[in-house]
Amino acid sequence: MTAEAMTVLDIRGISRRFGGLQALSGVSFSVNKGEIVGVIGPNGAGKTTLFSTLVGLIRPDSGTITLDGKNLAGLKPHRVAALGMTKTFQNVALFAESSVLDNVLTAGLLRHGVEAARSEALNCLDRVGLRAVAHKQAGDLSFPERARVELARALCTAPKVLLLDEVMAALNHSEMQEIMALIRSLRRDGVTLLIVEHHMRAIMNVCDRIMVLNFGRLLADGTPEQVAHDPEVIEAYLGRSLEKRR
Ligand SMILES: Nc1ncnc2c1ncn2[C@@H]1O[C@H](COP(=O)(O)OP(=O)(O)OP(=O)(O)O)[C@@H](O)[C@H]1O
Ligand SMILES: [Mg+2]
Repeated sequence: MTAEAMTVLDIRGISRRFGGLQALSGVSFSVNKGEIVGVIGPNGAGKTTLFSTLVGLIRPDSGTITLDGKNLAGLKPHRVAALGMTKTFQNVALFAESSVLDNVLTAGLLRHGVEAARSEALNCLDRVGLRAVAHKQAGDLSFPERARVELARALCTAPKVLLLDEVMAALNHSEMQEIMALIRSLRRDGVTLLIVEHHMRAIMNVCDRIMVLNFGRLLADGTPEQVAHDPEVIEAYLGRSLEKRR
């Protein structure tokens, strides 16, 4: 396969300013099909802003985003999702009065009629281990369960590239293991994943490659091993040892 055929996502020179704050500054990288790429960095580094820009929620001031050879400039999130890229929300906001199933089904309507979306939504709930609570009100779920509903919602758009923004926050160890197993199974299905996480052990374990953002700039991009030993990364984010960060 040629390098071009393997590239699913190509980002060139993305910048975004909020008032006086340069949230993203000339960020460029590309991602190969089937890769699992971690995005780490301190609070406020621009990780969520990067993901929001990729899926069309935030318009970059400059730069290009190319998904499967298509330029996404100016496309709205639902169009980007229809082309195959979607993200989960760091602050999960479900329709609390609606059933879990209906919350997920809505995402499926992007590409299916209601009945097909319902069966697809049930499959996605199965995949995240929530089939049993499909008919509960979303507002009655625990916080970790809501994070899984958010994941099921993203899956229900049938993404080629899935961006996960801190889906493991607030999960206990075994719940985290389950999500990591799910991430690996998605990759086996050909999904490409970008993952923002503060749980260093989890991210070092599941990712092929890690990018480090710091003050809106890409500070490092390499294997987990390379990044963990990069003096600049240790200084900016990891601290003196990984062990200190759980
Ligand atoms: N809509 C906005 N308007 C103004 N400033 C914003 C907006 N969104 C983000 N910012 C600012 O941009 C910077 C980057 O924020 P972002 O949420 O991308 O960081 P992050 O790396 O995701 O941090 P965290 O690890 O805390 O989630 C922060 O200083 C934030 O306050
Ligand atoms: Mg964030």
